[in-house]
Amino acid sequence: MHRILIVDDDRETCRFMAELLTRPDREVLTATQADDALDRVQSDAFDLLVSDINLNARQSGLDVLKAFKSSNPEGQVLLISGFGTLDTAIAAVRAGAFDYISKPFNIAQVKETVDRALAQAATTANSHAARREAGPPELIGRTAGMLEVYKQIARAADSGVPVLITGESGTGKELVARAIHANSPRSSRPFVAINCGAIPDTLLESELFGHTRGSFTGAVNDTKGLFEQAHGGTIFLDEVGEMPPALQVKLLRTLEDGEVRPVGAARSVRIDARVIAATNADLEQAISDQKFRQDLYYRLGVIVIRMPPLRDRPADIALLVERFLQNANDRAGRRVELAEDALAALAAHDWPGNVRELENTVERLVLFSRGSRLELADLPAALRHGRATLETRLFTDLPSLDELERRYLVHVLEAVGGNRTRAAEVMGIDRRTFYRMAERFGVDLKD
Ligand SMILES: Nc1ncnc2c1ncn2[C@@H]1O[C@H](COP(=O)(O)OP(=O)(O)OP(=O)(O)O)[C@@H](O)[C@H]1O
Ligand SMILES: [Mg+2]
Repeated sequence: MHRILIVDDDRETCRFMAELLTRPDREVLTATQADDALDRVQSDAFDLLVSDINLNARQSGLDVLKAFKSSNPEGQVLLISGFGTLDTAIAAVRAGAFDYISKPFNIAQVKETVDRALAQAATTANSHAARREAGPPELIGRTAGMLEVYKQIARAADSGVPVLITGESGTGKELVARAIHANSPRSSRPFVAINCGAIPDTLLESELFGHTRGSFTGAVNDTKGLFEQAHGGTIFLDEVGEMPPALQVKLLRTLEDGEVRPVGAARSVRIDARVIAATNADLEQAISDQKFRQDLYYRLGVIVIRMPPLRDRPADIALLVERFLQNANDRAGRRVELAEDALAALAAHDWPGNVRELENTVERLVLFSRGSRLELADLPAALRHGRATLETRLFTDLPSLDELERRYLVHVLEAVGGNRTRAAEVMGIDRRTFYRMAERFGVDLKD
């Protein structure tokens, strides 16, 4: 059950949002007073706060956000930005809001954003709980590519079908596999991981499927394989592309029949393990090279999650660096900071080793730094002179022309105190064109 708190000084908006977001698996509460909202977020637990930014003269949605975050560190916040407050909304997202919604509402978008935020809250909450038991760290990233991954994690978690996670080394495939398990109904059962590329072919079969006593030299006992050990839970087959052909056949049969036959055993055993596989190899290429079975590929990839390489989402780098810096500082008992231009260089690098390489780099920088502030000059030469064009960074965050036009209109309208005739004049367009634009962008022309 997810708990949502909606805060808006407008009673109608509260009612509308509550109606829109209510579902059998959700509890939706509302508050129209900032003070009431502040009390609630401090005394009660919510997965999601949806708050208007403009509440009253003294308090804003940002105050509620702060109070909420300090008592619900795992919860997510969506802010509603009204007329002409896009900049505030952006500031809000920087302050830790998951996303913002502008009025007037696009209903489909509101629903979708709330779903995403709750999926993220679940991922975060579970990984927080898991971290206490040294489980997986949370997934970081707010770019479209990562949001798509969160959505797929949510979908995969709800269904029990096999998942194939593809992507370059260090993009977070294992983290995603753990997040799927942690958010699935199997979360209290084991998550068993095996790296198919790291185990000699001869042992892999008995590791996966088990063996009976005496089935080969050294098999002194009946031993359960990982499929059986993962009973009720999830088995993670890492580097599945490395699996030898004979085993691929056996795995295919396991997926089809839901049973395994331990090495040397006369009969099969039923298993109940959810299969998640990962690969950084190009499986389609491996298939055409006849190194990987096409039928197995289809069986494993009922849901395929493709992890975007870090160079395709440079806007996430600052967030990742912030976290890794904090972790490295905590571990080393230091308080090293990163200069703005040093961060810009990290953000402009293309990171062939992806997040893992970034994490290791930050860790090393902290360990070897003498001062408390890392300057551009402290970075390794490859990072300083890499693909360090500011352009690549700027272009990723570039708003669309439509969005710019919308901001322009809102800005001008605000500057002239809402006077439409004057606004149209300033923009050099006639009133009709102005009205059409306002309508197209859903800008509410208050009377
Ligand atoms: N989105 C992310 N947010 C936070 N940490 C991440 C993210 N993606 C990866 N990491 C971190 O980067 C490291 C590598 O991640 P992971 O092991 O999941 O990658 P992988 O895709 O399985 O790599 P490989 O193919 O080399 O096994 C881990 O320490 C992980 O915690
Ligand atoms: Mg891995």
